[in-house]
Amino acid sequence: MRFSEELLDRLASATRVAVLTGSGVSAESGIATFRDPNGLWARFRPEELARVDAFLANPERVQGWYTYRRDIVHRAEPNPAHRALALMETLYEHFTLVTQNVDDLHRRAGSGQVIELHGNLTRNFCITCGKAAAPDRVDAAPDGLVRCDDCGGLVRPDVVWFGETLPPDAVEKAWTAASEAELFLSIGTSAVVYPAAELPLVAARAGAYVVEVNIEPSAMSEAADEVLIGPAGSILPVLVDIARERMEDMKT
Ligand code: OAD
Repeated sequence: MRFSEELLDRLASATRVAVLTGSGVSAESGIATFRDPNGLWARFRPEELARVDAFLANPERVQGWYTYRRDIVHRAEPNPAHRALALMETLYEHFTLVTQNVDDLHRRAGSGQVIELHGNLTRNFCITCGKAAAPDRVDAAPDGLVRCDDCGGLVRPDVVWFGETLPPDAVEKAWTAASEAELFLSIGTSAVVYPAAELPLVAARAGAYVVEVNIEPSAMSEAADEVLIGPAGSILPVLVDIARERMEDMKT
């Protein structure tokens, strides 16, 4: 993989870097993406599993699906792409990692500040009183039906379902970071789900150098200054190594 001089210069000199990740960044950890041929939405119906009305109609089925996904995520390990992004955080004065992923793998790879636009499936809360439910309680429920210790309300995963709004605090931080970034990386996302897909466009409009990392072109490729085609787990570690070397050279 060859990188442009422009990208390498920017990687070495930027002080404000923002990154958006999607499910492609976790693909090499063995976690299914959504829209690839073998993705979750090819095998499951989102309207039966990722909507609040579906949950209220059949909480066991919905919680059961999240228990299945949590089980896969718990057995998975962060891959070199997650680790490279955790390392990147230490290289820049202002580094913002925004993810659409709910799998918690960025945090497990060592990223300290992760803005989760779509929540996190390792967390659960009561839809009546809002109290968080311990993950082991949820996983231990044999039929998937979990009720709140305090009020008996239904417990749901802390993820954003279709038709729901994104956490306002996460949105504000993500949009600020995108509009202030000098360099913006969009990694492993098809960039078709809004508002998250707006972020690379916000960054581009504000003057950032926008780079995509994906195994194939996506809906945002045309807005990118550079598209790096290949697996994130192969590209990112090399990119971060080169950035570090250049930064060291600039110091001497
Ligand atoms: P998608 O399944 O839509 O897109 C995954 C992207 O990752 C595709 O563009 C693939 O080409 C790319 N990809 C696959 N393997 C890769 C690899 N090893 N390296 C780099 N890229 C790779 O998933 P998202 O864009 O994350 O929302 O989907 C966005 C949202 O749609 C999800 O957060 C979820 C879903 O509905 C909610 O659940 C709210």
